[in-house]
Amino acid sequence: MRTERYNNIMRRVNHCNKSTLFRVLRFLSTETKILKEFNEIPGPISLPLVGTLYQYFPVFGKYKFDRLHHNGLTKLRQYGPVVREDIVPGVSIVWIFKPEDIEMLYRKEGRYPERRSHLALQKYRLSKPDVYNTGGLLPTNGKEWWRLRKAFQKHLSKVQCIKGYVNSTNTVVGEFIDRRIRREGRTDDFSPELSRLFLELTYYIAFDKRLQQFKDKEWDSNSESSKLIKAAHDINSAILKTDNGPQLWRKFETPMYKSIKKGHEHIEKIALKVVSEKLTSIKTTDSKTSLLGEYLSSDETDYKDVVGMTVDTLLAGIDTVMLIVRLNSLVVKTIIKRTDD
Ligand code: HEM
Repeated sequence: MRTERYNNIMRRVNHCNKSTLFRVLRFLSTETKILKEFNEIPGPISLPLVGTLYQYFPVFGKYKFDRLHHNGLTKLRQYGPVVREDIVPGVSIVWIFKPEDIEMLYRKEGRYPERRSHLALQKYRLSKPDVYNTGGLLPTNGKEWWRLRKAFQKHLSKVQCIKGYVNSTNTVVGEFIDRRIRREGRTDDFSPELSRLFLELTYYIAFDKRLQQFKDKEWDSNSESSKLIKAAHDINSAILKTDNGPQLWRKFETPMYKSIKKGHEHIEKIALKVVSEKLTSIKTTDSKTSLLGEYLSSDETDYKDVVGMTVDTLLAGIDTVMLIVRLNSLVVKTIIKRTDD
């Protein structure tokens, strides 16, 4: 009876969830053990036309698009471990918080997880079929995602490949310590420095080339490294806002979409130049020792796949690691302070 009810619910959900954010497989929180209908899941009240967007209005809104963790905590406290939100009519998000529920979701999803993010980025890339085959690793789902993912992780997870980058990574970090950490006149906010370190490491690994070598002139806002960091940052900052919300960018070029487009065009120009140079050097010297060389020589991916992957690597490699290092320092600082107290 229970299985039958579950299957009935699933049939209904799978049938109507084309625009649902999470393909929720089972609305059973590991805590409650009570199976619920989709529309029984508690959550913020959704109004006709505006959904729950009114809750995200500046000043009087309860949630903020760029404070995902705060929104989550507020929802968890108010509605419990499984929360349903119809953010705009027809687009439902189900928030799950408990690691056991997240684990269950991943297990049930199987080989092809369904993610729904980086949608405006996907639109941009799909509008340029002469440059990209797909929207890239993050927005692509299903078999196409698996084709890309399998090809790209093959080399990345080889110990031999990692070993090939140990010495170069050491050199970059050594230079960073000498030129930036040991210099005089340090500032309180170390984030711009860290961004440059992770840009240099990512650029080196993605393109087999050095970019800035931490020269003082690179701190100028017009330098190549500053422009690249800004482009990646502009794109990443627009993702959450273009994914959630009314998605007006689907109808016309909103300022957020323009920001993604401009940043992307900048990174793309660099990626196209460097990937094409690498291809020429492989043809003339027959060397494919690097990650980029391996990808370009692979039968599983073509030139356009590699360009997309290279842009993804630059987008994902700068802000993420900088943020993690900052969070880590914050935790260490808190621990030291508590120990001193
Ligand atoms: C510590 C820093 C990092 C964190 C916290 C982080 C976090 C994540 C998370 C949570 C995802 C999964 C997104 C999803 O499937 O919905 C992801 C995917 C990805 N990350 Fe990172 N990341 C980090 C560093 C990096 C770096 C350094 C690179 C590349 C140089 C990178 C490249 C990617 C790529 C290409 C994907 C897409 C994978 C796929 O969809 O198959 N990430 N990252």
